[in-house]
Amino acid sequence: MDGFDIEWLRLTARWIHLIVGVAWIGASFYFVWQDDSLEPTPEDPDSKRLQGEVWMVHGGGFYNARKYKVAPPNLPEKLHWFKWEAYSTWLSGMALLILVYYLGAGIYMLPPDSPLSPLTAVGIGVGTLVGSWVIYDLMCRSPLGRSDGVLAIAVAVLVTLLAYGLTQVLSGRAAFIHVGAAIGTIMVANVFFTIIPNQRKIVAQMLRGEIPDPALGRAGKQRSVHNTYFTLPVLFLMISNHYALVTGHPWNWVLLLALSALGAGVRQVFVLRHTGRARAWMLPLAGACFAGLVMVATVTRDDGPVSASMAAPDAGEEAEEPSAVPFAAVQAIIQARCVACHAARPTFEGFDAPPKEVALETPEQIRQWADKIGQQAVHTRTMPLGNVTAMNPEERALLGLWLRTGK
Ligand code: HEC
Repeated sequence: MDGFDIEWLRLTARWIHLIVGVAWIGASFYFVWQDDSLEPTPEDPDSKRLQGEVWMVHGGGFYNARKYKVAPPNLPEKLHWFKWEAYSTWLSGMALLILVYYLGAGIYMLPPDSPLSPLTAVGIGVGTLVGSWVIYDLMCRSPLGRSDGVLAIAVAVLVTLLAYGLTQVLSGRAAFIHVGAAIGTIMVANVFFTIIPNQRKIVAQMLRGEIPDPALGRAGKQRSVHNTYFTLPVLFLMISNHYALVTGHPWNWVLLLALSALGAGVRQVFVLRHTGRARAWMLPLAGACFAGLVMVATVTRDDGPVSASMAAPDAGEEAEEPSAVPFAAVQAIIQARCVACHAARPTFEGFDAPPKEVALETPEQIRQWADKIGQQAVHTRTMPLGNVTAMNPEERALLGLWLRTGK
């Protein structure tokens, strides 16, 4: 396996994760829609046994699905279960988390100049996933679980604590991915520990000729409803890692919560639409909130440290303009702090190609990527990853000045 690049494994895990995730969420959206679209059936107009039925046309065929209040009088021979979509999403997600974050903990998990060891960061990550599920499950089973509203507030508090706590100790991107993975774990564990086992118990009770306990179905439904509202926030958290302007923002945890809440709200609008209760102003309102958040995030972003000793240190030739930064100084910083990774042939261990095809070796390349350099190394301190090359605030300030005063 000489020369084998682990990046291939990451690509494989990510691809699978996306495929099964699409299958899971697609099925989940479909069943929520079905539940909300049921009409009384002609055989059971008062919906005594049947909750209702729905007619659909798709791909050239007509479909008629019906939902039983508890279960049909006799079980059909072939019953389809929906669970592997969820399990395989979690398994591939864990593989990806290990391949990207846990194996690269030193650069991906730690914020710049963190006192923690990479192993501690991994421990915090794993502990978060397990701990969040245990706490959530206890909350659902406790008296809090009797009121959907109170439980929803408790879950929101849990997510807030996760978002705040993790952004204080881990790098922004690791914090975001772990909040996402914790919620994702809760969703899959809901399927694995509650929804499917309860369904199995219902089936077993029926096979014994007993009337199934409706409480089992209700508990499953409660978890299922949570999963519905988690979907869009989790998807946002999963892609957030590609946007340092969010994960590296000084108020990143607030953005995490605000955008997640917006995602849950948008999901609610779609759920309301199923039953014709959505109003025309709802999605535009969500859009306006999003635009407002973008504006607030833009004005509150970090403009980089401002240093008094800003006069370009070791390159004075073309400094007619007092604030202009000589390009040679910029290139020296990039050379010292970035090129180990961002080169056609990186020298940093574990890198075989310039990350994201961003090479910063020549003046043309540096100018070409100037705005991105500002975003990654000045407005956010995402780069250098984990500050492994020990970039200092003066250097960031200098880059910021260069970007502001003409590149
Ligand atoms: C330890 C290796 C390493 C160092 C040092 C490093 N980077 Fe990166 N850089 C990466 C990796 C890995 C990515 C891809 C991150 C991802 O997958 O989102 C990246 C991505 C980027 C991107 C693209 C971001 C995007 O979302 O398109 C820019 C721009 C960048 N780095 C700039 C810099 C600058 C400027 C420096 C020096 C101040 C620097 N990097 C130092 C590893 C490094």
